[in-house]
Formats: sequence, C-alpha cells, structure tokens
Amino acid sequence: MIVTVTLNPAVDRTLWVRSLAPGDTNRVLRSVMDPGGKGINMSLVLRECGVQTTALGFIAGHTGQFIKTYLENRGIATSFVEVKGETRINIAVEDAGGGPPTTLHEPGPEVGMEDLRQLWDRIRPLLKQAQFIAFGGSLPPGVPNDVYATLIRNCQDNGVRAILDADGTPLMAGLNAKPYLVKPNRAEAERLLGRSIRSIEDAASGALELVQRGVSFAVISMGVKGAVGATSEEVWRVRPPVVTSKSTVGSGDSMLAGIAAALAKGAGVGDALRLGAAAGAATAASPDAGLCTQAEIQAIYPQVHLERLR
Ligand SMILES: Nc1ncnc2c1ncn2[C@@H]1O[C@H](COP(=O)(O)OP(=O)(O)OP(=O)(O)O)[C@@H](O)[C@H]1O
Ligand SMILES: [Mg+2]
Repeated sequence: MIVTVTLNPAVDRTLWVRSLAPGDTNRVLRSVMDPGGKGINMSLVLRECGVQTTALGFIAGHTGQFIKTYLENRGIATSFVEVKGETRINIAVEDAGGGPPTTLHEPGPEVGMEDLRQLWDRIRPLLKQAQFIAFGGSLPPGVPNDVYATLIRNCQDNGVRAILDADGTPLMAGLNAKPYLVKPNRAEAERLLGRSIRSIEDAASGALELVQRGVSFAVISMGVKGAVGATSEEVWRVRPPVVTSKSTVGSGDSMLAGIAAALAKGAGVGDALRLGAAAGAATAASPDAGLCTQAEIQAIYPQVHLERLR
C-alpha cells in the first residue's frame, strides 16, 4: 500500500471558450471539473497500476467533499483532515487559439498547527502497512516551509520510505530529511541545484549530486525528452515514445506513481523508470487534462526505451 499526502489540494475547473475576451461576457462551450493536487493524481494513477493506495491531506467545504467522493468512487481509500473554509478551485480557460490556458489559482484555506497534529494522527496508523509515503505539491497558507522535512523524518524513523515532489523552499528544506525518492522536473532541479541543465549529461550529474546529498533514488524528468534516474550504484536514462499531447498536466505525478508502483512490486530502478515514463507519456497523450488509464500505460510501455548510462 502506498500513502499519498496532498497538503493543498484543488479542484481543477477547465473551461473552453472560442476566444477569451477580458472585461466581457464569455460563453463557455464546454467545461470539466477534476480533482487536482500531486498526491491525489498519484493515487489515481497508482490505482490504474493496480497498487492499493490511501490518499490524505487537508480538504475543506463542498469542493473538498467533491475530491473525497471522486477518489472513493474509484476505490481509493481516503483519510483527509477537514479544515475550515473551502478547498481552492483552480480555473483554466482554454480558447481555440491553441496557446497556453489563462489560469486563476486560489491560495487555499489556512491550515493551523492543530490541523497538522491531526494530520500526523491520520498518517501514523497507516505506516504499519505502507511501503512508501508520497508528499507532493505547494503548501497551504499557515504551514511552515520545513513541514515536509518534519513529516519525512517522522515517517522514515518509522521505517517507511518517503517520496517528495515539491518545488522551491519546501523542496530544498525537505531534502534535509533525505527522502528516499525525489523527481524534480528540469526547471525545479535547476532551481534546486542552482545551475542550468541543458543535456542528459547535466541531468545525470544533477541526479548524482542529489544522491550525494542523501537521496537514495533521484530522478530528473525532462518532459518529452524522458528522464534520468540515479542511485549510488546505477544511472539510467529513459525515453518515452513520441505522442500527440493535448496537455502534459499531471505527467510528472503519473511518472512518480509508475515508479513507486513498480518499486512496490519489487522492480529494480531501471524497470521502475520504464513504467514511470510509460505512465507520464500516457497522461501526456490522454485527452484534455486527464490522467492515464491502465490500458493507455500498457499500450505505451513496450515503446519506452531504457538505457543504462553507468
Ligand atoms: N509530451 C510528452 N510526450 C511523451 N512523454 C512525456 C511528455 N511529457 C511528459 N512525458 C513523460 O512524463 C515524464 C514526466 O514529465 P515532466 O518532466 O513534464 O514532469 P512534470 O513537469 O513534473 O509534470 P507535472 O508536474 O505537470 O505533473 C517525462 O519524463 C516523460 O517520460
Ligand atoms: Mg511535477
């Protein structure tokens, strides 16, 4: 079983208009509403990979209930802490021009110290059955920047390997707790390491630097170019097939779910990267901003190229 923790989930509302006119009334042609947040995406894809998962974190109000019900309807166990307010709604407006969407992101409800204590009360009983615990995404208002470090230490002290997918200060602070697995994308890795990553070689040395800092398995993902993964003993490069992509939102979360699912089933790091790349590409190829299905992952898996660099 793999536990996922999303501290600041969102409901992603995508609206399609012919041509967005600011300051005017815009007719919406089509709209969809999906749960959002890195851990939540991971749980949805873990389920597609046939791995049991429990999703938790903070939810609030009606939008929070939407997320909980959505997950439970898909057979995913949840143990969210309910806080005051409403879980945020992130709006994306897509127009026929084909450019990037216009997005509006709310900060999310305030989370206090007592809420964090309650979260730990929810996590602790799950640690006995958990193979991994994954922490992902931005922090809600009111939460200290080193929250991931504290949570990761507590979990790893209890024998459960932690996965961290974050950016900026929360990622930098979280690294101090030496999570088992991290998967920054190229831009996140550049911010973390303080240098540019242009080539696969740059990514390989970046991943090895993260291993030197105490991460057991460091992956740097490079979108359509695939990813590089390193441990103290091995370095691998994985390349997905070319797919037609409408939206790559959630590709990184899908990749982490694929990697964690394979590791939980006993695969080595190379094969784990291969399943991760298949899931990431399958999500990039899936319609709208949707996540991949089991069938889509299986169709892409044989087309993924895996190479050992060291
Ligand atoms: N356009 C694409 N075509 C094929 N595979 C892709 C594409 N985009 C992503 N992938 C696969 O998914 C993996 C993760 O993608 P990416 O590096 O974009 O993650 P990310 O930026 O963390 O995504 P997000 O945080 O939005 O979920 C890549 O390493 C690759 O294997
Ligand atoms: Mg990402």
